[in-house]
Amino acid sequence: MRKLLVTGGAGFIGSNFVHYVLENTDDHVTVLDKLTYAGNLASLDGLDPERFTFVKGDIADAALVDGLVEDADVVVHYAAESHNDNSLHDPRPFLDTNIIGTFTLIEAARKHDVRFHHISTDEVYGDLELDDPERFTEQTPYNPSSPYSSTKAGSDLLVRAWVRSFGLRATISNCSNNYGPYQHVEKFIPRQITNVLTGERPKLYGAGENVRDWIHANDHSSAVLTIIDKGEIGETYLVGADGEKNNKQVVELILETLGQPSDAYDHVIDRPGHDLRYAIDSTKLRTQLGWVPQYSDFESGLASTVAWYRDNENWWKPQKAETEAKYQLQGQ
Ligand code: NAD
Ligand code: DAU
Repeated sequence: MRKLLVTGGAGFIGSNFVHYVLENTDDHVTVLDKLTYAGNLASLDGLDPERFTFVKGDIADAALVDGLVEDADVVVHYAAESHNDNSLHDPRPFLDTNIIGTFTLIEAARKHDVRFHHISTDEVYGDLELDDPERFTEQTPYNPSSPYSSTKAGSDLLVRAWVRSFGLRATISNCSNNYGPYQHVEKFIPRQITNVLTGERPKLYGAGENVRDWIHANDHSSAVLTIIDKGEIGETYLVGADGEKNNKQVVELILETLGQPSDAYDHVIDRPGHDLRYAIDSTKLRTQLGWVPQYSDFESGLASTVAWYRDNENWWKPQKAETEAKYQLQGQ
């Protein structure tokens, strides 16, 4: 039985990966998670205790990390401060977790010669014009815009340096915007769904023309497992499912799905430095490793996500009021 150490496994995408691995492999999973405001143990409810262990702790805690990494066959590193808006108001935790935390993990992985997979984002590449025919590829130069994306870019570069200088057995994936169940209500899609469900109007930053390349979290999980199983050490793989939509289109779809008029939303103050468009070319992952996304229809994936939030109020309600109060202070 292979032993995976999954950092950030109580977060949105990490918890999806843990479920995916337990359902599709014989692997054992240990989750290391600090349970920040973004971590939620309820996302890991009902897992088989023989194949799953939870450890509460910080990835920057070198003594704790050393023992856990030594005991693992593969480290899958999801833990991060993940929200751009938070990084604009309080950048420090982003440096502590995304930079120092990643450094702490790769030092342990190098010491114990443990296979490492680093989860990253398409935001390291900056943004594209709306009419740019090109999409991001593994060759696109790094050009991050926000404190969040610059710390993710920094963490990617640390991993690359550890591969080259120390022979760390690592791969990196840079994925586009995920959607699906268990995403914190601070993020765009859950915020708008739960706004409508609580009688609030959705809030669009600026004109709503910014484009994101949406992928269902299950497809991200299958991509990561594929890279762990078949990826080449030292390589980077871009993960995306051809899901480009502008924010206005997404809000209109959410409103229609919930039986509201499609113009029942507000425009609010734009995000400073707001990236215009992300778009991923995932040809390398598809052709070299044979990965194929399963959720090709964004409308139906979104409809099932809306249904999940409608049916799981207990999961998101405790965070909703506090999250909205924070946005209100920022005029958003
Ligand atoms: P999230 O904010 O939902 O979850 C992050 C998790 O990490 C939480 O459970 C939190 O408690 C934990 N954590 C934070 N700091 C920690 C620390 N110091 N030590 C241990 N645990 C800590 O984030 P997410 O959206 O699931 O993103 C997970 C990863 O995927 C991140 O690395 C992010 O950069 C990357 N990513 C996210 C997206 C997306 O669309 N959400 C897309 C591409 C890549
Ligand atoms: O591209 C991958 C990235 O996607 C990940 O690395 C990040 O961790 C993840 O948070 C996400 O970043 P974004 O900034 O793209 O996601 P967010 O959900 O914050 O916003 C999506 C878009 O919606 C963005 O253009 C900003 C806009 N937005 C967001 C919120 C919260 C709104 O218009 N209104 C809102 O209320």
